Amino acid sequence: MTQLQNAKLLPLPPGDIGLPLIGETLNFLFDPDFAKKKVRKYGQVYKTNIFGNNTVTMIGAEANQFLFLNENKYVVSTWPKSTRILLGQLSLAVKNGNFHTSRRKLLAQAFQPRALSNYIPKMVDITQQYVEKWLQTKELTWYPELRNYTFDVACSLLISIENASETKLASYFETWCKGLFTLPINLPWTNFGKALECRQKMLQEIETIIINRQQQPNHKNDALGILLDAKDEEGNSLSLEELKDQILLLLFAGHETLTSAISSFVLLMAQHPDIFKKVKKEQEKLNISEPITPEQLKEMTYLEQVLKEVLRLIPPVGGGLRKVIQEFDFQGYRIPKDWTVQYQIAQTHQETDTFPDYNTFDPERFSPENMADKQKNFCYIPFGGGLRECLGKEFARLEMKIFASVLVRNCHWQLLPDQNLEMITIPSPRPRDGLKVKIV
Ligand code: HEM
Repeated sequence: MTQLQNAKLLPLPPGDIGLPLIGETLNFLFDPDFAKKKVRKYGQVYKTNIFGNNTVTMIGAEANQFLFLNENKYVVSTWPKSTRILLGQLSLAVKNGNFHTSRRKLLAQAFQPRALSNYIPKMVDITQQYVEKWLQTKELTWYPELRNYTFDVACSLLISIENASETKLASYFETWCKGLFTLPINLPWTNFGKALECRQKMLQEIETIIINRQQQPNHKNDALGILLDAKDEEGNSLSLEELKDQILLLLFAGHETLTSAISSFVLLMAQHPDIFKKVKKEQEKLNISEPITPEQLKEMTYLEQVLKEVLRLIPPVGGGLRKVIQEFDFQGYRIPKDWTVQYQIAQTHQETDTFPDYNTFDPERFSPENMADKQKNFCYIPFGGGLRECLGKEFARLEMKIFASVLVRNCHWQLLPDQNLEMITIPSPRPRDGLKVKIV
């Protein structure tokens, strides 16, 4: 029997599709334990309805492998309608097939090792400025500050705009982000309506930046400089309209996720002083004199283990969505054409055979002896996998490392009492009260 004939005889996965129209979207967005409860009730493959689509969630390394290796055969990438509209129709994230592959190659030039090492001095510089400021503040709510920090780094390295967190672009961006994962109702008072308005304002700002740059010789080492010179296989440059959407995507992808990652790092270090001490000891042993070199970064092996474990325990991206283009069966269930499928990162990172005692923060999982991430294909996937794996993965790892290294060498911090550390999970995990700390 063919895959298709076989699948037709099989049942749909168990689950609940919720209320008409909105399905279970609100639970998905606002209940941080949504996936956990579903797994307990239905197992690792279950159906629901989110963002207006019948959706099957497929959890675990085996499911990830199936989905990542069958991109363009059984599934293609998709996003909730609100995200698709706000990212724009020329954005790499919403493209599929050959066009996606060719554009990805072009954009990847901004994340090649040479481009990355050119980014190091500026990353270090901005980190030091923020750390000096925080040392003077003593007590602060860190999450909004960390958001400003990652926005400044992204804008500086991607489009050479300095101190961007103090500009109009930042406030437009903030409002735009709030509409990304919502029901796409375009009214002046909805999050989506406001976000759509801010998209236009941001595109206008980005257009001015691009046109100014096109009128000067292209000497800058930022991502925009690389993309202005880049050509596709036919020798064509990116159009102004496409450049705007791609720049917006890179600003978005490199901002929310990284803020979540570094805020989880500071939270977990405050909660695990013994591990903080080991990270600090490694930094001291390396005897770093600024600017940090790529070689020194490579030697921070314990810090690398810690950062891997941060991304395992609190992955900044919860999962990814795919649209079924050809019906298939998986673990005895029929997954129909045109349904949406979701792979789950946080739940994958809790599979007990690979990550025993999964709630414990334990960087030793990633020691050279244990290498938990290498035990099974796609068991550790903070950056997704396959054809859609995170394009900015190395940029993200670099920024996390530089941030952690500068911070740990210069200050200690403690969590202030009486704060809610429960995580809001969408779009990326962050503590409800914004992470209140005392810096010493
Ligand atoms: C810790 C930080 C980050 C995490 C955890 C992360 C995670 C992810 C994940 C899971 C995906 C795949 C989504 C899917 O399967 O549908 C993805 C895609 C992507 N990421 Fe990241 N990301 C991070 C930082 C960055 C940065 C810094 C950039 C760029 C400056 C970036 C650019 C992208 C792009 C462009 C895509 C879409 C790739 C495509 O569709 O081909 N990310 N990211």
